Amino acid sequence: MPAWLENTVFYQIYPQTFRDSNGDGIGDLRGIIEKLPYLQELGVTGLWLSPCFESPFGDAGYDVADFYKVAPRYGTNDDLRALFAEAKRRGIRVMLDLVAGHTSNQCAWFRESQRHERNQYSDWYIWTDSVWTWFAPNLQVVVGGAERDANYVPNFFHFQPALNYGFAKPDPKMPWQQPVDAPGPQAVRAELKKIMAYWFDLGASGFRVDMAGSLVKNDPDGSATAALWREFRAWMDREYPDCALVSEWSQPQIAVPQGFHMDFLLPFAKPGYKALFRPDGDAVPIFDRSGRGNIRTFLDEFAPLYDATKGRGFIAIPSGNHDTVPRLGDGREARDVAVAMAFLLTMPGVPFIYYGDELGMRALDGLPSKEGGYGRTGCRTPMQWDASANAGFSAAPADQLYLPVDPSPTRPTVAAGLADPQSSLRATQELLALRKTHPALGASGEFRELYAEAGQWPVVYERTLGSERILVALNPTDTAREVRLPALPALESVRALAGEAAAFVSGADGWTVKLPPVSYAVVKAG
Ligand code: GLC
Ligand code: CA
Repeated sequence: MPAWLENTVFYQIYPQTFRDSNGDGIGDLRGIIEKLPYLQELGVTGLWLSPCFESPFGDAGYDVADFYKVAPRYGTNDDLRALFAEAKRRGIRVMLDLVAGHTSNQCAWFRESQRHERNQYSDWYIWTDSVWTWFAPNLQVVVGGAERDANYVPNFFHFQPALNYGFAKPDPKMPWQQPVDAPGPQAVRAELKKIMAYWFDLGASGFRVDMAGSLVKNDPDGSATAALWREFRAWMDREYPDCALVSEWSQPQIAVPQGFHMDFLLPFAKPGYKALFRPDGDAVPIFDRSGRGNIRTFLDEFAPLYDATKGRGFIAIPSGNHDTVPRLGDGREARDVAVAMAFLLTMPGVPFIYYGDELGMRALDGLPSKEGGYGRTGCRTPMQWDASANAGFSAAPADQLYLPVDPSPTRPTVAAGLADPQSSLRATQELLALRKTHPALGASGEFRELYAEAGQWPVVYERTLGSERILVALNPTDTAREVRLPALPALESVRALAGEAAAFVSGADGWTVKLPPVSYAVVKAG
């Protein structure tokens, strides 16, 4: 286990819209390098870059055409190498995005694979036996899209053909379904390792693995896909023990024991996570001023996952990502965002902040789809740096930006946030610094609920490591809340670390936790 994960907090950058250094309207690697001082000042120590490789950008780069080459619009491989080096100088590690399950249909491997003549790549994708095989149970097929007399299985959009990692249980009636140990699937595995090694050697510290659970087909319990990742982990432990993988799987109880250092909680698979910050139908989010949010919805989902992964790897709780609308900042003021950050940054595991969420950036409604974004497009708009043109994102004319900047006169910016002691940015900065200097708040510090009742606030929990003990209380509601915790074990005194300084009050009959509306407290015992 790479020791650096213990106190790393990641920041996800969507390269298209972080910072445009050359005025063409699209973010780029030099732009990210330019903004490293900001990221260092913020206090994050890890970056995850959404895919920055050569691509026709039908799915924003999740349709990779060349896994070994940076897309020209972002720069060159040398620029990426420079980013690794510059970031490292500032104590920041960089993770890339590994789209392991599929490629673009413009990838050279696929262009070969779809040919009539058999060749080295014929079995790198999943092809049916004939163009007339239009249906296969639990699989989509793209019909008539190839030169060869066969249809291919896509993984996501139609132009994202699935790489062939084989079938856990090939259907004997469909001999085109190859077993995992067939030559095609084994060659694809070897290539995936080559890609990873290439970027590790250039200075990448790890990968976020796209659709990590999707590789082996007809694998209902995930065991064949898990076996693949076990093999990769054993290889990494031998060859690249300081590098890490985080999976987009959202089944930490499977992904972590099987080899991932961390797995994300994500809204598509984890309703309790989704409920934290985002409304679901008529239900208000857990972190909501109305106080109608129920923290148990999250904790009852989280507890078994935490138990299943403890000591083996980490749960990664993201503030959001490039697929999630609304954003954390939607419907929230600075104080509300700060309370949400206080939660994210004091939970065990490895937190991920989606760019702009530290500002409370809002998603834009009603944008036309950009690069396959569809309903996700609104959470991908340019980072808001300052009050200059295009919020300091780019020198291009506004109508030539990748996506429009939030036009709201009240849009938050980095410059305004840094200048305002009450901003969510400043709160995030303070919490990040705290996490770095207090091992109990790190990834492995033990988590224990002290008070977390359905429909009640505040919620109180503790984090411990060795002799360090830190208590956290959160009140996202718009009324003052207090709870008596007479049984708070062995707590003699507290020292305020962040938030409300006087929240933990000791009396003759034990401790009371009192929080004003929309507030939090982090205190250290003893
Ligand atoms: C993941 C990515 C998403 C992409 C999809 C297909 O879910 O996060 O943006 O569209 O995989 O690669
Ligand atoms: Ca640019």
